[in-house]
Amino acid sequence: MSTHSPVSGHERIETSNFLMIVLILLVIAVGGMVEIIPLFFQRSTTQPVTGLQPYSALQLVGRDVYLREGCYNCHSQMIRPLHAETLRYGHYSMAGEFVYDHPFQWGSKRTGPDLQRVGGKYSDEWHRLHLAGPRDLVPESNMPAYPWLETAAIEPASVPPRLKAMQRLGVPYTDANVAGSAEAVTGKTELDALVAYLQSLGTHVK
Ligand code: HEC
Repeated sequence: MSTHSPVSGHERIETSNFLMIVLILLVIAVGGMVEIIPLFFQRSTTQPVTGLQPYSALQLVGRDVYLREGCYNCHSQMIRPLHAETLRYGHYSMAGEFVYDHPFQWGSKRTGPDLQRVGGKYSDEWHRLHLAGPRDLVPESNMPAYPWLETAAIEPASVPPRLKAMQRLGVPYTDANVAGSAEAVTGKTELDALVAYLQSLGTHVK
């Protein structure tokens, strides 16, 4: 008696590398889309949390200093919803807190502490001293000092284009905000800007 029965659907897939690979990729693609696409449309991931304001001109410049100096190489801005994290840093991060951040600074490298809720934790003066010489305040710190920020003036003319770029990305700056932004930073240093930025972090959620 012949044992040749026609190969059934499932067996055909399992014995064909080609079909197996193609169908696995298809399943992963569909599964991925089902998980990811709704995030682009959900209120909780696309709308700002209540009270969230776009960065002021000075804060936005401070944010650029933060990026330029590579602070993100040692600091995350993303509190995970785990007990140990919320005990240490405060309320876990929510997507709606970052809708005006282009690009966001979540990160995962924590040589230093997470900074997402550092706003209001210390005085401005503490930050100024700390940035000029971290070991003056925290003797065991291995954070670099940034003494030049105190004397680095902000070029006012460079600021309106930065707000304009954010406007293009959907941050609700008015044209008056853009027009007034050069004046708002006149006479300020990069240190003023960075401190203003740090003091704004995470303050919209209590
Ligand atoms: C080489 C790693 C490193 C870099 C780069 C770095 N930091 Fe830090 N930072 C640390 C460490 C470690 C601490 C904890 C000790 C201390 O407070 O100095 C810290 C602490 C801090 C704190 C206090 C946080 C808290 O909750 O106590 C702030 C604010 C801060 N850093 C801001 C910055 C800013 C702004 C920059 C960029 C200009 C920066 N750091 C760059 C390592 C770093």
